[in-house]
Amino acid sequence: MNYSAKTGDPSKQRTPCLVLGLFSRRKLSDAAKTVDKASKGFLTSILKKGDMDGEPGQALMLYDLPGTLCERVLLIGCGTQKEYNQNKHSEAVGKAISELNSGYTVDATLCLPALESTQSDLYSQIRDTVINSSEQIYRFDQCKSDPKAPKRPLKKLTLLVNDRKHLKTAQKAIAHGQAMANGISLAKDLGNLPGNICTPSHLADQARRLGRKSPKLKVKILEEKQMAALKMGALLSVSRGSRQPAKLIVMEYHGGTAKSKPVVLVGKGLTFDAGGISIKPSPAMDEMKYDMCGGASVIGTLSACVDLELPVNVVGIVPASENLPDGNANKPGDIVTSMSGQTIEILNTDAEGRLILCDALTYCERFNPAIVIDVATLTGACVVALGKHATGLLSNNDALADEILSAGDSCNDRAWRLPLWEEYQKQLDSNFADMANIGGKGGGTITAACFLSRFTKKQKWAHLDIAGSAWNSGTKKGATGRPVSLLTHLLLKRSKQVS
Ligand code: BES
Ligand code: MN
Ligand code: ZN
Repeated sequence: MNYSAKTGDPSKQRTPCLVLGLFSRRKLSDAAKTVDKASKGFLTSILKKGDMDGEPGQALMLYDLPGTLCERVLLIGCGTQKEYNQNKHSEAVGKAISELNSGYTVDATLCLPALESTQSDLYSQIRDTVINSSEQIYRFDQCKSDPKAPKRPLKKLTLLVNDRKHLKTAQKAIAHGQAMANGISLAKDLGNLPGNICTPSHLADQARRLGRKSPKLKVKILEEKQMAALKMGALLSVSRGSRQPAKLIVMEYHGGTAKSKPVVLVGKGLTFDAGGISIKPSPAMDEMKYDMCGGASVIGTLSACVDLELPVNVVGIVPASENLPDGNANKPGDIVTSMSGQTIEILNTDAEGRLILCDALTYCERFNPAIVIDVATLTGACVVALGKHATGLLSNNDALADEILSAGDSCNDRAWRLPLWEEYQKQLDSNFADMANIGGKGGGTITAACFLSRFTKKQKWAHLDIAGSAWNSGTKKGATGRPVSLLTHLLLKRSKQVS
C-alpha cells in the first residue's frame, strides 16, 4: 500500500473516498463539520434520519455530497469524544480500512479525528495509523490453493493533516510506519508458515534473502559442524533429535560508525516444538509452529533497519532448530556442556528454548555488544502471568529495562517487568551438573530468565518472553509480529531518529 500525507480543506479533496469521524451521539468531528458546512448541512440532514449515531464499529458510506470534490464520504463511528483515546483511534482506523478494502475504493483520503496532543503526538498517531492500516490489510494465504483476496483492495491512502508545518513530521512518521509494518508483516509470514515449510533452513534462506537487499547487512549461517567446533553442546543437543539440521543465523547490520558498539538481538528460532521426549499434549500442539516467533521478530526488525537505513549497528542472531522426540533426542537426566563451559542437567526436554539460547548468548560476546536483548516464546507460565497483552520483561540492568518499557509504551507494543531476584536462582540447583534446565514449581518465567542470566553476566542484558504476545489463538489464529515495533522504536530512539 502507498501512503502519503497532505494538508488542505477536507471538503476540497478530490478523492474517490473521504473518511471522516463521527462521535456519538451524532457529534460531527471538526473535519466532518467543515464538510457539513460546505455541503450546506447535508451530513446533518442524513444523520437526522438515524442511520448512524457514532458508536465504535459503525460505518456509513455516503455518495454525491453537494459542495465537495470527493466521490464518497465514509463516516466512521468513534464513540464519545470524551472517551476517544489511542485504542478508539486504532479501532476507527481498523474499521475504515476494512470497509475500504472490502468495498470498491482503491484510493482514499483519511481524515479521522486526531487525539489530543496530551495523549499522543502527531508523529505517533500517523505512525500508528500506518501500522494499523497495514495490520488490517495483512493476509496470509500462501498455503491456500484459491486465495479469496478482496476484488479491489485499497492501494493508496492519503492522510490529511491540518497544518503545513506538520507535513515533514507526517512524512517521517509514514516512512517509519511503513518500515515497521513491513518488518511486522515479514515476521508474521514466517510465524504463520507451518513447521514443514518454515524449517531452520528456510529461516536461514529468508535471512540470506534479506541480506541481498542491502550492502549494509551481512548474513552468515553457521552449520552444525561449525557449531560443534565452537562447542555449542546445549544447542546441538536439541537439534540432535531432529532430521532438520540446526542453523545459527548471524545478521550484521552496519549502519553506524565502525567503532560504535552494536545492539545485539537474539531470537529463539525453534521452528517446531513437540517437547522432545518430554512430549507435549496434543491439543493445540500445532501452535508450536510459532515457537520461532522470537527469531522472526529479530529478522523483521533487521528488515526495518534496512528499509530505514538506520545509522546504528545491530547484530541479529537466530539459533534455529526443531525439538522432536527421536532415538537420538535428549533424554531427561542427560547432561550437556554449553559453549560457556557450564554443564546443564536436562530434567525436561521441553525446556529447550533456553538450551539453544544460552549458546547463542555466549556466542554474541564476540560482538562486544552495547546491549543484548533476547526475544523468545519461552514459557507457558508467562501466558498464565500476563496473558496475551503484555510481553514479559526481565533484565539485569534497570536503565535498559526502563528503555524497553518506554519503547513499548510509545508504540503500543507493551512489556511488563518481572523480578530477577537472586532468591529464584536456587530453584535451578542440580545434584549432578552446574544447573538444571528447569526451576520446578512456581515462577516459571522468572526461573527461565534466571537460567539465561547465567550466560549474560558480562552484558547489559534483557530478556523478552513473548509466549503470550507472539500469536493469537482461536478463530483469529495468527502471528502478531510482536515485538518488531518495540525493538524498532528502541533502535530509532538510540539512533536519534525520534525524540
Ligand atoms: N515453547 C515453549 C513455551 C510455550 C508454551 C510458549 C506454550 C507458548 C505457549 C517452551 O519451549 C516450553 O515448552 N516451555 C516449558 C518449560 C517447562 C518445561 C519448564 C513450558 O512452559 O511448559
Ligand atoms: Mn518446549
Ligand atoms: Zn519451545
